Amino acid sequence: MLYKAMAAEFKKICDEVISKKGKINIAISGGNTPKLLFEVLAENYKNKIDWMNVNFYWVDERCVPPADPESNFGMTHKNLFSKVKIPEDNVYRILGENDPKDEAVRYSEVLKNNLEIKNNFPEFDLMLLGIGDDGHTASIFPDQMKLLNSQDVCAVATHPSSGQKRITLTGRVINNSKRVYFLVTGKSKSEVVKDILEKKNDYLKYPAAHIKPTDGDLNWYLDKEAAL
Ligand code: 6PG
Repeated sequence: MLYKAMAAEFKKICDEVISKKGKINIAISGGNTPKLLFEVLAENYKNKIDWMNVNFYWVDERCVPPADPESNFGMTHKNLFSKVKIPEDNVYRILGENDPKDEAVRYSEVLKNNLEIKNNFPEFDLMLLGIGDDGHTASIFPDQMKLLNSQDVCAVATHPSSGQKRITLTGRVINNSKRVYFLVTGKSKSEVVKDILEKKNDYLKYPAAHIKPTDGDLNWYLDKEAAL
């Protein structure tokens, strides 16, 4: 149910924005949660969305090559791009195989050159976020909160337990979006989600608690377990 609802919302937003602007710029997250959304979109919306005018960017990427099982681009290609005709020019991959520092600079330039600038930062029409059990979002982890207010568009982050390098959008870019959607499933996230939504238990220690679009809207799509 959750994925069907999110897919219907995704279509509604694409239709609305494309009819107004001719195209839509979307930043998507990786990890496991979006997989089922991409499957629903590929199965049920293959011919119901104007994919020719949907531009895909990433919220974050692991610093691995695209063929690596860890790659967010690789996951999206497997679950969506390999099933729905999306022009290659519409897919703005973070080059996980590049030197992290260089790629953070390069991708920042890609965003500045391709997106409208609002409040001095690139503006996405739609930002799809996940949340970790530790309350991270994008690749902004609890021990790297400074990335929430960085003046940079993209930054290099380090996964706190694996040490894996990541490229991530910074908090100001995320909060500069017109629409931000958290898509969250599973019991393991329920406590963090509850703390954030109810503003309890020192909730500001979670990076996801700092996601408040400056003049966009924030939406939470939760399955039953995550909403416990
Ligand atoms: C990533 C994601 C990350 C993800 C959360 C939740 O690169 O892993 O962008 O922010 O949204 O870690 O991951 P799951 O969906 O796998 O629980």
